[in-house]
Amino acid sequence: MRFDIFTLFPAMFDGPFGDSIIKRAIAAGQLDIHLYNIRDYAEGRHRVTDDYPYGGGGGMVMKPEPVFAAVEAVLGPQPGAVAPLILMDPQGRRFSQAVAAELAALPRVALLCGHYEGIDERIRDQLVTDELSIGDYVLTGGELPAMVIVDTVARLLPGVLGNPMGAANDSIASGLLEFPQYTRPVDYRGWRVPDVLLSGHHAQVDRWRRREALRRTLARRPDLLASAALTDADRKLLAEIADERDGEP
Ligand code: ADE
Repeated sequence: MRFDIFTLFPAMFDGPFGDSIIKRAIAAGQLDIHLYNIRDYAEGRHRVTDDYPYGGGGGMVMKPEPVFAAVEAVLGPQPGAVAPLILMDPQGRRFSQAVAAELAALPRVALLCGHYEGIDERIRDQLVTDELSIGDYVLTGGELPAMVIVDTVARLLPGVLGNPMGAANDSIASGLLEFPQYTRPVDYRGWRVPDVLLSGHHAQVDRWRRREALRRTLARRPDLLASAALTDADRKLLAEIADERDGEP
């Protein structure tokens, strides 16, 4: 999958894309990331990319010309026909695991990182095809959201995670929070790994894990249960967990 990222600060991406799973995915050709510095497409000796807002008020606004020039140079005169251009913006649609799965199904996605106090509205109206927010808080720019989106999408691509189950068992992706995990030693400072995990009895392990995933989801994110794919056995387990909780002092 290919990402084209338009930013005023391409160096910010060096760390997150230069290590670990993302680095490996790029090296393996599963992920193709192209970064473009919007400033390189600005005219004039000073390559100005921002200006004062019409109507007054504080802050600076990203100018339309360099952004249009960068996007059209890379995606052509009809950018939307080549790839969606997604603006990182707290006003956008909320990014989620479901949106990540939508994007992971596409061959190519372009991300536009906003900065300063805002962007000229003509960029939003005429160039951008979608807007995504990573949460109800305001960052200094769209670079961190773009990294979050690339990272989340990348691990859904075939072969990117070493584990053959890939992302299928993920917390949230499965609709439930994850069950607790343990590794060696069996006894650490007197805190023991639950016996069932040492039993070698796969059906019992699976049942315990499902039960703990349900328990955790009920305690921490009961809202997720409404849309999770629950079986009759899950509902029975949930009823048992609720009974146990009622019995607590
Ligand atoms: N730019 C600034 N804050 C943002 C957010 N929360 N999501 C996406 N883009 C942003």
